[in-house]
Amino acid sequence: MVNPYSAEHPVPPEKFAGRVSQIEEFDRFLADTVEGNSKNLAILGGWGIGKTSLLRTFKHRAEQQNCAATIIELGESTDSFITLFETITRSLARDATPVMGAAAKIREFLEGLSLSVNYGPVGISYADKRKGTPDVFRFKEDLISVSGTLDVPFLIMLDNAEQLLAIKGAIFELRNIFQTIQSADGVRCMLILSGKETLFADMRSASEPAVRFFWGIDLGPFSREETFEAITKPLAGTGIVFDDASMDRIYELTQGHPYFVQVFAYNLFSARTGDRITLSDLERNHVRILSYLGRRLFESIYSRTSANERKILRAFVRSDKDLLSNTEIAELSGVKSTNIYLKNLSGFPTPLLIRPERGKYSLFHPLFMEYLKHTPG
Ligand SMILES: Nc1ncnc2c1ncn2[C@@H]1O[C@H](COP(=O)(O)OP(=O)(O)O)[C@@H](O)[C@H]1O
Ligand SMILES: [Mg+2]
Repeated sequence: MVNPYSAEHPVPPEKFAGRVSQIEEFDRFLADTVEGNSKNLAILGGWGIGKTSLLRTFKHRAEQQNCAATIIELGESTDSFITLFETITRSLARDATPVMGAAAKIREFLEGLSLSVNYGPVGISYADKRKGTPDVFRFKEDLISVSGTLDVPFLIMLDNAEQLLAIKGAIFELRNIFQTIQSADGVRCMLILSGKETLFADMRSASEPAVRFFWGIDLGPFSREETFEAITKPLAGTGIVFDDASMDRIYELTQGHPYFVQVFAYNLFSARTGDRITLSDLERNHVRILSYLGRRLFESIYSRTSANERKILRAFVRSDKDLLSNTEIAELSGVKSTNIYLKNLSGFPTPLLIRPERGKYSLFHPLFMEYLKHTPG
């Protein structure tokens, strides 16, 4: 039987658990947009917390309402205005095609658009796009004509939006463009960004008005109920169950972090001996799951840390406390000027430390503490 869990991929809408309040908010904003009062959102949350999965669910819901929606994974190759704008138009044209199923004329228009998109000087090389000035007017015109041709609202979702900060002025410019087409040109559309918690703070230093342009939706760990749902939903039709005690223990160990919930469910499913997965199955597999996590995740991040950074991480193991102040960290680790290391350890892409309050740090997850305890050096 195929294992219905995966920690490596965002969940498809039919396995999507919880997030009821975020979805309600989204539905309201979508309804506003459909009625002509366009709204823009920013989903904020840490690594593995479920941003991409939520975007997929938003896309699915929008399409059920007969809106067009596209999700764009921003990456290092999206490093210029010209590339960004071209990617947006191309993805929108591609993803809008199946939604409108019907009219051949519309399909032709979208295909033509997707092929002809070019917002830089003609014949410009990939490298030169970084220096070139984009044709903002044409980008806007294209969005307006997509909107007019489709005659339904469209949603543009930019995943990993911190990448926008690498293009100087991009967030400010996007806000200007969407504000204009939404108000002056009456285009019904939503711009949705998703990124780590600090995205707003980073955006604020780049552009204050841009921050106010987006409604923030915060994404944290699952509640107990959401954890149970995330485990139970994918089991539909398999005849296999997790008992409550095992799910409670998964919740306790993972603290509802969606990525870790998937890892536990995946491993317990594949190691099952009967139709019922119990607490004792979990206890029996606990160490194996920790080493799975080590191989899949912790090792590769840990191996990138320097000697001093490791001393700092070890300070948490030595003290066995969740929360340590700057001074305690310096004392326990023996590292003199800790600031630069603390900053690195809290930085992108997978922070090993978090700062729950000013001047205090903790390891990003108790499972990482477990891993460190079981790993020498
Ligand atoms: N609502 C959800 N229901 C079930 N599983 C989820 C949910 N959200 C996230 N997950 C799981 O958590 C992991 C990380 O999710 P993902 O959407 O990729 O997070 P992010 O984009 O924030 O890094 C994936 O394995 C996914 O299956
Ligand atoms: Mg993601």
